[in-house]
Amino acid sequence: MTYTEAPHLSPRRPIRELPDELISQIAAGEVIERPASVVRELVDNALDAGASQVTVRLLSGGVRLISVEDDGSGIVRDDLPIAFKRHATSKITSLHELESVATMGFRGEALAAINSIADCALLSRIPTEPNAWLLEGLTGELKVAARAGGTTVEVKELFFSTPARRKFLKTDATELAHCVDAVRRHALARPDVGFAIWAEGKLVEQWRIAPLPQRLRDVLGEDFIAQAVEVNHTVGTVRVTGYAGVPDAARSRADHQFAYVNGRYVRDKVLTHAARVAYADVLHGHRQPVFALYLHMDPTRVDVNVHPTKIEVRFRDSREIHQAVLHAVENALAAPRSAAGGVLVDLPAHGVGDVAEPAAIMGAPSFEQKTESRHIVWEQSAINLGGNRVSDVSLLWSPTVAGNDTNDGLAIQRAHTIPASAPEGSVWPLGRAVAQLHGVYILAENAQGLVVVDMHAAHERIVYERLKNQLEAARVISQHLLIPATFAATAQEVATAEACTEALLELGLEVSAFSPKTLAVRAVPSTLVNGNAVELARSVLAELAQHDASRVLEQARNELLATMACHGAVRANRQLTLEEMNALLRQMEVTERSDQCNHGRPTWRQLKMNELDALFLRGR
Ligand SMILES: Nc1ncnc2c1ncn2[C@@H]1O[C@H](COP(=O)(O)OP(=O)(O)OP(=O)(O)O)[C@@H](O)[C@H]1O
Ligand SMILES: [Mg+2]
Repeated sequence: MTYTEAPHLSPRRPIRELPDELISQIAAGEVIERPASVVRELVDNALDAGASQVTVRLLSGGVRLISVEDDGSGIVRDDLPIAFKRHATSKITSLHELESVATMGFRGEALAAINSIADCALLSRIPTEPNAWLLEGLTGELKVAARAGGTTVEVKELFFSTPARRKFLKTDATELAHCVDAVRRHALARPDVGFAIWAEGKLVEQWRIAPLPQRLRDVLGEDFIAQAVEVNHTVGTVRVTGYAGVPDAARSRADHQFAYVNGRYVRDKVLTHAARVAYADVLHGHRQPVFALYLHMDPTRVDVNVHPTKIEVRFRDSREIHQAVLHAVENALAAPRSAAGGVLVDLPAHGVGDVAEPAAIMGAPSFEQKTESRHIVWEQSAINLGGNRVSDVSLLWSPTVAGNDTNDGLAIQRAHTIPASAPEGSVWPLGRAVAQLHGVYILAENAQGLVVVDMHAAHERIVYERLKNQLEAARVISQHLLIPATFAATAQEVATAEACTEALLELGLEVSAFSPKTLAVRAVPSTLVNGNAVELARSVLAELAQHDASRVLEQARNELLATMACHGAVRANRQLTLEEMNALLRQMEVTERSDQCNHGRPTWRQLKMNELDALFLRGR
């Protein structure tokens, strides 16, 4: 039969209930897409059983065999056959319990689904029982077996009964990669559990129990943690922890973005959007930030039962979550990393030929220690500035925003200058200026070696941040438009405008219905009075409908400020004195986001002594 000869469905066909077997197979399609889905479900179960070690064995990318072994609580003999039944679970007993479910599983579907499309066996022993029991899924045969406390689920010949679905699988290597990814996601959430993955009899991954930073290092590589800042932020009842990669660590693909809600890996638009917005001011173009973020929240405020594979969730108040993640990441990224003594920002490997990663990193202190030492360095430098207090230093560079080109916006106040030969130079994170290169770069010496600063880029950020702060300090002043700007609005826009009048007013926007299908913008923030009021209102309404809109205005305003900052910043080819250069370095150390210019490019690089030594083959 070709596709043109569709079977003629006679209206006389009777309605019949599907056989149980077929119901299970159809339902399985929702949960089990490929071997990795099985791996995910089985590891979920092992973790729910309180396992401290989970071992996954795979043959042919999981198609021929998936075996997941744990040392968890086990299943009692009489429950074994029930575990394979649909809608049979030990994890919830009521709708009320579902609302506050803390386990990965709750539907009692996974094992039934897997058993309907593969040859399964369940081997389990309650640690206090004298022996284990083995249940064959195909025959239902139950017999005594030997095993330490815990459970092994064996899944052979996946999709053997549904060959059509098997055809959709990719190569074994690809399926294996997906299986490893599935375990990786669990491993990032549970550093307190050890994981091992064997493929074709060979150990391919092993992650031992370790503190989170070490687990991240083991799973995502040294670079991830070496180029990340710690996130730890609480807004109301929502706590966000984890690590966010510095802008330099961004990748071309979004493959290192991990978000967890109460320990569950999720792909959620609100979370990814919030993270992206948090990077908006330091990461430009299409680079993808890297992060591992963990949300801890009241389980009743998130619905985990909205997607067959539980990869999506629904938040009761998505705006609250958006705000929490946004602020958490933004705060973590704001602190200038120069204050960390350059530990966290390394020159990219290609920048210095084939210089290997400094071996010192292997024995580097743990991440917590690093962050701690950052504070120590920071305090030292603040103290050592002595009479030139940080706030005084900020006066050294007071740009004239209007873009007075003859002056470059540079105003040096001699009274507050720092002696170029300050003996404390080595404790300043960005060091002591020693020279200017071709009117573009400042060269400075710090404790780690050589610092190279792009002076225009750095100053541009300093001016920009100052403008933002000045503007933030002032309340949003809204200005009425002489003639309201009207536009044909969608039903969604009209509804949002009506529901969010207050929020709009807070943002300096007055938008009201002109007719059932027309909205009128009557007032806009005075700083944006010359912009396109309709476009502004539209983007704010779109954001408000989803999450939180304060950022649209901020972004529009920031774009304006960035242009102003560019004019206000010191130009290339401007000769600076050592005092001016030092003043710029001190300013960078205290300015938020000063590691990136307004266009997301780095403003400074550290060349460590061992990297310089390597360039000259010293000590080899
Ligand atoms: N590794 C295991 N250790 C102990 N008990 C297990 C294990 N795997 C499954 N079980 C038991 O079998 C039951 C059924 O597992 P199954 O995965 O089908 O459903 P679930 O985890 O309850 O819900 P979900 O379908 O959402 O995963 C579980 O509720 C649990 O009691
Ligand atoms: Mg389960």
